[in-house]
Amino acid sequence: MSAVMKSDGRSIAELIASQKPGHSLDQRFYTDPEIYDREIEKIVNRNWILAGHVSSVPEPGDFKVLNVGQESAIIVRGNDGELKGFANVCRHRGSLVCLEQHGHVDKFQCPYHGWMYDLDGNLTAARNMNEGFDKSQHGLKSVSVGEIHGLVLICFDDNPPSLEGAIRDLEEPMGMYDFKNLKVAAQKSYPIPANWKLLIENYQECYHCATAHPEYALMHTMMLDREKRERASGHMYERMAACGIKDIDIDHVDTEARPGEIGFGYGRTAMFNKYDTGSRDGKAVAPLLGDIKGYDGGHADLSFGPFSFLLAYNDHVVCYVFTPVDHNNSNCEVYWLVRGDAVEGKDYDRDELIWLWDVTTAADKEIVVNNSKGVHSKYYEPGPFSGMERLERRYVEWILAELQRP
Ligand code: FES
Ligand SMILES: [Fe+2]
Repeated sequence: MSAVMKSDGRSIAELIASQKPGHSLDQRFYTDPEIYDREIEKIVNRNWILAGHVSSVPEPGDFKVLNVGQESAIIVRGNDGELKGFANVCRHRGSLVCLEQHGHVDKFQCPYHGWMYDLDGNLTAARNMNEGFDKSQHGLKSVSVGEIHGLVLICFDDNPPSLEGAIRDLEEPMGMYDFKNLKVAAQKSYPIPANWKLLIENYQECYHCATAHPEYALMHTMMLDREKRERASGHMYERMAACGIKDIDIDHVDTEARPGEIGFGYGRTAMFNKYDTGSRDGKAVAPLLGDIKGYDGGHADLSFGPFSFLLAYNDHVVCYVFTPVDHNNSNCEVYWLVRGDAVEGKDYDRDELIWLWDVTTAADKEIVVNNSKGVHSKYYEPGPFSGMERLERRYVEWILAELQRP
């Protein structure tokens, strides 16, 4: 579809300058491979991406792989107990080294000609190489790995944004849910044939929730405008303290304010009165997290950098990671986290746990694909954002600013 899409002759700078404030992006931002390449360089490869939870790689040799655009990273627990990140690219002739998405190894062996790497990425064996070949110069290249209270992030840049501010400022709110000691109860990939920005723009607004998400709209006040939402939140504020939940609001999503740091945010929102959590009947779906003592009828939203968004209910957490595959294909990875000591089948039922966000993500996939089809049309023209698309507007403005950064 996009292969036949012609560039209109304007440079990217001209295109950005002509972008109408408060409107959706020009077609070329979704279809032009040259803009996609710039996004990879300026945005995707410079920012942290959520890769899961530490509980998925507890022991030395436990690993997982994360694929983003053209890159593939191996995250492995080293013999020293630390998490390490490596480019999944063999130093012989460049094959992917690790073809499994997760597992346990003593060493990594390239499937092509058998070169072997230890858990520190050192090349330990390479058959029949010429004399003078220096194994020490052919270790796996490293990828930055970081951790925020149990969440694992990777960045394809040797000088990634600092995580210090996020770790410090989120210690108290994330501590309430004991993020460090959660575990992954379920994980699901949703491949979506659309440009990655359409997925994230869709996640940023709930203007579509009333029409697209009947299940979600029953429970979540996010589908209301701000004023109505405030009015529907009284019951939560009354119950919060008794549940051991503090009312904390953090908005450092804007990276201009704290240059060199990851953008992050935390805030709490009420659900409709009779809903305790995001489950089919609104009742408990897993044991309460951390020291939380009950249900206050609210949930928290968190964000880490431009690709990773979380929703923390009092009894489970849902993590969303949106990443590009190529300019017209993306992946939405969803993780469901529960208490580390919760037992499947006894404390929670996997199908019930994932029900709400599985139906909601399937619906989002459909609307995003339809959005992508329309955006490719010659009749597409950027349209005005509503008052309920404030965050989406901020997001696309951030994208435009990043694309112009040196
Ligand atoms: S490409 Fe890996 S051993 Fe040859
Ligand atoms: Fe949605």
